[in-house]
Amino acid sequence: MEFKDKVCVVTGAGSGIGREIAWAFATAGAQVVAVDRDLATLDRLTQDAARAERPLHVRGAVCDVADAQQITCTCDEVVAHFGRCDVLVNNAGILRRGALQDLPDAQWDQVLDINLSGGFRFARHLARNMIANGRGAIVHIASIAATQTHGGCGAYSASKAATLALSAQMAVEWGPHGVRSNCISPGLIETALSAPFYAIPGVREQRERLVPLRQIGTPRQVADAALFLASDAAAYINGHNLVIDGGLSHALIAQVPRPETA
Ligand SMILES: NC(=O)c1ccc[n+]([C@@H]2O[C@H](COP(=O)([O-])OP(=O)(O)OC[C@H]3O[C@@H](n4cnc5c(N)ncnc54)[C@H](O)[C@@H]3O)[C@@H](O)[C@H]2O)c1
Repeated sequence: MEFKDKVCVVTGAGSGIGREIAWAFATAGAQVVAVDRDLATLDRLTQDAARAERPLHVRGAVCDVADAQQITCTCDEVVAHFGRCDVLVNNAGILRRGALQDLPDAQWDQVLDINLSGGFRFARHLARNMIANGRGAIVHIASIAATQTHGGCGAYSASKAATLALSAQMAVEWGPHGVRSNCISPGLIETALSAPFYAIPGVREQRERLVPLRQIGTPRQVADAALFLASDAAAYINGHNLVIDGGLSHALIAQVPRPETA
C-alpha cells in the first residue's frame, strides 16, 4: 500500500496497536504524526524511526485526547506544518473495569472522554481540512466489545458502540465531501492493554480455544487493516465496520450449553 508523502495522524501511537499503525504508515512512505500523552513512548518511537534502515518520517506530538484544548493545538499544528491531513486514525483508548452499579462518575467520564469524545474532536478538527481538500480517510479503532458485551467492562462497551455510530454519522455527513469514515473492531489482540491477562497461567490457551482461527491477534494484523481502509484500495468503502477477531464474535454463541452438551 502506497502512502508516499501522505500526512497521517495516529492517536495513541506510543504503544500497542497505535504504534504498529504509525510504523506501518511510515513504512508505506507517509509523514506520520504520532500522538500520545506519554512523551517517553513517543520518544522511543521517533528514535526507532530515525534509526530504521530507511529513515521513516515520524513526528511525535504530546497530547491528551481527553483535553479539548490540547486537541485543538495539535490539529492546528498539523495543518500549519503540513498544510493538510490525509488520514486520521483514532486509536487512543483505555479500558477501566468495574461493576456498573459501583462505577464512579469520574471513571465513566474518563472512558467516554478518551474513547469517544477525543476521537470526535480530532475528527471534527481535521475533517475541516479534509473537506476543504475534497478528500480524506478516517479510521476509528472500536472493539468487538461494542456488540459483544461482557460483565465488568464499565463504560468501555458503551464508548465503543457509540464510536461505531459516530463513524457512520461521519460517513454520511462527510462522504459527499470526499471524506470516508470507517471502523475497525479488533477482537483479542495482545498488547500492553491486554498483556496482564496473558501473564495468568492458562489464559492464553483458554482464549485461543475460543477463536475459530485458534490464535490471538497481533497489532500488525490490525495495522494492515487500517492501512487498507485508509488507502485508495478502499475508495468505495465508507461507513463500514471491519471486524478483526479470527471469527471469535461468530463463535461466542457456541459457548452456550445445549441439552446435548450440558
Ligand atoms: N488490545 C486489544 O485486545 C484490543 C481489542 C479491541 C480494541 N482495542 C482498542 O485498540 C486501541 C489501542 O489499544 P492497545 O491495546 O494498543 O492499548 P495500549 O494501552 O497498548 O495503547 C494505548 C495507547 O493510547 C495512549 N493513550 C491512552 N489514553 C490516552 C490519552 N488520554 N491521550 C493520548 N493517548 C492516550 C496510551 O498512552 C497508549 O500509548 C484502543 O482504542 C483499544 O480500545 C484493543
